[in-house]
Amino acid sequence: MAELFNIMKNPKAGFDAALAALRSGGLAAVPTETVYGLGADATNGSAVSRIFAAKGRPDFNPLIAHVSGVEMARSIAVLNDVSLKLASRFWPGPLTLVVPLKPGATIAPAVTAGLETIALRQPKGIMADLANALGNPIAAPSANSSGRISPTLAKHVMDDLGDKIDVILDGGNCDVGLESTIVKADDDGVALLRKGGIAVETLEMFLGQKLRPGTDKPKVEAPGMLLAHYAPRTPVRLNAPCANEGEVLLAFGPGVDDGPAVRNLSPEGDLHQAAHNLFAMMKELDMCGATRIAVQPIPQQGIGAAINDRLERAAASVERRA
Ligand code: TXA
Ligand code: MG
Repeated sequence: MAELFNIMKNPKAGFDAALAALRSGGLAAVPTETVYGLGADATNGSAVSRIFAAKGRPDFNPLIAHVSGVEMARSIAVLNDVSLKLASRFWPGPLTLVVPLKPGATIAPAVTAGLETIALRQPKGIMADLANALGNPIAAPSANSSGRISPTLAKHVMDDLGDKIDVILDGGNCDVGLESTIVKADDDGVALLRKGGIAVETLEMFLGQKLRPGTDKPKVEAPGMLLAHYAPRTPVRLNAPCANEGEVLLAFGPGVDDGPAVRNLSPEGDLHQAAHNLFAMMKELDMCGATRIAVQPIPQQGIGAAINDRLERAAASVERRA
């Protein structure tokens, strides 16, 4: 079983244990501002292969490498002007940049699934500090079994993967609650590969240009965006005004209170609060033994677009399994 450290009470003990695990080729689950990541030293091939084994993740789906900052990013990859501009504005934060890997970089090939590009992110907080202390990037997908809902609490990680990893750091509830936005800046502009914690509108405003959809090579450009992602066990019904007989309700906005069969993502109608609560509330409703989770409409603006993206995948993946 994984050793669990509460880093809100005792940050040093947890940091040291996670660093020791990473240094010796082990796996450490570490909170970030988005979701919990399942980390390994990105330069250690056997450590990285343990990530794929623990998650049951297909080996064609590359990982995000978490860096301590722009300097570490530039030591292993080529950041063009637009990527640099994005990094300096949004790092540390929930933005992942897909950039060309530098020839000769000592990143384990499994991290990039053999691609010539690598996904890089400087997260807020302890993950970046660990990368700095390790002296290497930390490869870390979300710390959940492949295809399931991402963890926003240490307990989610323990329940799902506790018997397969070495250390779990409990940093409480993840702030943003949704994975990072993934973009790729190249000669054709900036492609959006995954909606996430930074709204498309925010990026477009900053860049002064529209993002283009990154769907030209789905297998390579967004392999993590398969329909089987974010699957609860209970079927999901979207755009439901209210729950029917046998259903539990994932509500949004005023007038609906939490109860045994109801969770409200944000009674105030705040989309950031809804993102923050989304995965934990979906998991709670999934445990109710209901016939279906009815989900009230979420506005398709700002981070609401990323919330709807995850909800649509959750609904579609259950349909596909059925
Ligand atoms: O917020 C996040 O991004 C979290 C935290 C832990 O950082 N991580 C995360 O990792 O969501 P994961 O593995 O669940 O999703 C990584 C996504 C996948 O969709 C993968 O296909 C994509 O990044 N990806 C990784 N490398 C890529 C590359 N070279 N080109 C295109 N997509 C890539
Ligand atoms: Mg994931």
